[in-house]
Amino acid sequence: MEQTYVMVKPDGVQRGLVGEIVSRIEKRGLKIIAMRLNVIAEATAKEHYGEHAERPFFPSLIEFITSGPSVSMVVEGKDSVKVMRAVNGATNPVDAAPGTIRGDFALDVGRNVVHASDSPEAAAREIAIHFKDSEIAAYSRVDEVCLYE
Ligand code: RTP
Ligand code: MG
Repeated sequence: MEQTYVMVKPDGVQRGLVGEIVSRIEKRGLKIIAMRLNVIAEATAKEHYGEHAERPFFPSLIEFITSGPSVSMVVEGKDSVKVMRAVNGATNPVDAAPGTIRGDFALDVGRNVVHASDSPEAAAREIAIHFKDSEIAAYSRVDEVCLYE
């Protein structure tokens, strides 16, 4: 089963959307195998968003992502990288379809509520940045016999 890294960004926490977002992930059938609420350190945020270091929005992105608590998760399931990107919706919420998290709860690209890894390689890199192996739980969910053929 594939794993991905998901974050409820500080705007999502401040707006009381953690439960709604976790609920959508769980109801889809994806399994949360690690979860933590904390204020991400600046160095960690810069490593996480390293691919955007030269972009004009990088300083404001780092300032925002470290501005308050966020919720980090490792999510596991069939094609979880692709599925979580679809659950989150387009990066710019103006383009995000209704029914997606960004399409239902956001308007501004700099306040788009959630993050999810964009490839299995990025997922492995991001999971290692945010979690130790000992913080990730391997377990079965009782509904897996109904979720998977
Ligand atoms: P994320 O990494 O946060 O899941 O978002 P994403 O893959 O959909 O988008 P990405 O291109 O990786 O951009 C990372 C975050 O940077 C902010 N951004 N601002 N002002 C801008 O033009 C701009 N472009 C991107 C967004 O918060 C985006 O989620
Ligand atoms: Mg991204």
